[in-house]
Order: sequence, then C-alpha cells, then structure tokens
Amino acid sequence: MSKKSIAIDGPSGAGKSTLARQIAKALGFLYVDTGAIYRTLALAALRRGIDPANSADVLEVLHGIKIDLGYGADGLQHMYLDGADVTEEIRTPAVSAGASAVSAIPAVRTFLMDMQRDLAASRDVVMDGRDIGTVVLPGADVKIFLTATAEERARRRYEELLLRGTEVDYETVLRDIVARDERDTSRTAAPLRQAEDAVAVDTTGKSQEESLDLLLNLIRRQL
Ligand code: C5P
Repeated sequence: MSKKSIAIDGPSGAGKSTLARQIAKALGFLYVDTGAIYRTLALAALRRGIDPANSADVLEVLHGIKIDLGYGADGLQHMYLDGADVTEEIRTPAVSAGASAVSAIPAVRTFLMDMQRDLAASRDVVMDGRDIGTVVLPGADVKIFLTATAEERARRRYEELLLRGTEVDYETVLRDIVARDERDTSRTAAPLRQAEDAVAVDTTGKSQEESLDLLLNLIRRQL
C-alpha cells in the first residue's frame, strides 16, 4: 500500500515543527523536520570555516560528510553529522542563517531531496519545510501552508531561544526572521510559496492547542 504523506510548509517560526510533531504523534506517522537537514550541512560548513553561501565549497563539504536522521528513545528526531549527535548544536542563530544560505544552492537541494523522498517512501510521514508541498512531495495527501505575522513568529522564536539559554534580544530575532523570509521567498531554487492545492492556516493569536485542533480536524477530513 502506498504511504500517506502530509506536507507542512511555511516561514520560520510559524509553529511548523511543534505542530507537525504533535500531528505525527496523533496519527502514528513519522515526523520529518527537513530544516534540520539543511542546518546539519550548514553546521558542517561553518565548522570548516566555509562560507555557507559559497556553492562550490559547500558542495565539496556535502560530498565529504555523512548526514543521518535518527529517532531517540524520546521519539524526537535527532541529527547526526559523521555519526555524532548534533541535534542541539544546529539550533543556534548562526546555524539558522547558514541553513538559509546553503538551502539557496540548487545542487544542495537536489541532493537532499532524494533523502527526503526516500523517507516518505518508507513510512507514513508528516514532513515540514519550505518546499515539501511544491517540490519534494507534490503528490502529498494533505498540504498545509502555515503562517503567522513576522512579529508573532519573532516573539515565539525569542521565547524559545531564551528557554534554551541563548542570549538574544527581540529586535535582533525579528530582523533575522524578516531577512530569512526575504531570502527564502526570493531565491530561485524552490522558493517558499504556497502550493496551489495547499490549505493556508494562520496561527497568529491562536494557542498551540487551538492550532493543533484545527489542523487535525482539517487533516482527518482530507486523509
Ligand atoms: O525550518 P528551519 O528554520 O529549521 O530551516 C532552516 C532553513 O533551511 C530555512 O531558513 C530555509 O532556508 C531552509 N529550508 C529549506 N527547505 C526546507 C527546509 C528548510 O530551504 N524544506
């Protein structure tokens, strides 16, 4: 039987990862956070002192490393770079900016797309990213485009970083989000945009529980 897939796309901080994880849990599907894959490559480049926007250098890094996804006893997705767990390290603001830069390189996207499609071919998945409904899984059973205002997304990210103990100020987080939106939507390779057959859901002003209820209702109706 062919596998079911749910594509959740949208800009940074719209609540994609938390909601996608909860949806996957509720449905018994595998949750795949594709941003974490780009982040792992960015971390590998930064560690080697390579500019994440330099396509030739980044491709050389990509072909010399091993990126793996795993699921811990906690059920959470872990990322491994050459066998070492880098799940925590890929969450810094420097890696966020680097991920946005490496993901604009077309050959990087093509290479990583196969990895994402293989995962979706082997299991029922809830996959979140920027181009899942448009490029990676155009035949996904349900497509959701999750948004929220830049200010609301910045506030959520700011609180998340504070909880992790990262020192930041709100204005910087907002500026980073706006810059990342601009890069993600204006790049030529798989820009962030809503798939024609995706349902747009705005989570501004909604609690986590409200958004989850709304999404699960919508998904159960379409599956
Ligand atoms: O979702 P997350 O913030 O972890 O993604 C980090 C960066 O990776 C994004 O800013 C985006 O540029 C890129 N990305 C992408 N395509 C995906 C997932 C993430 O281009 N499917």
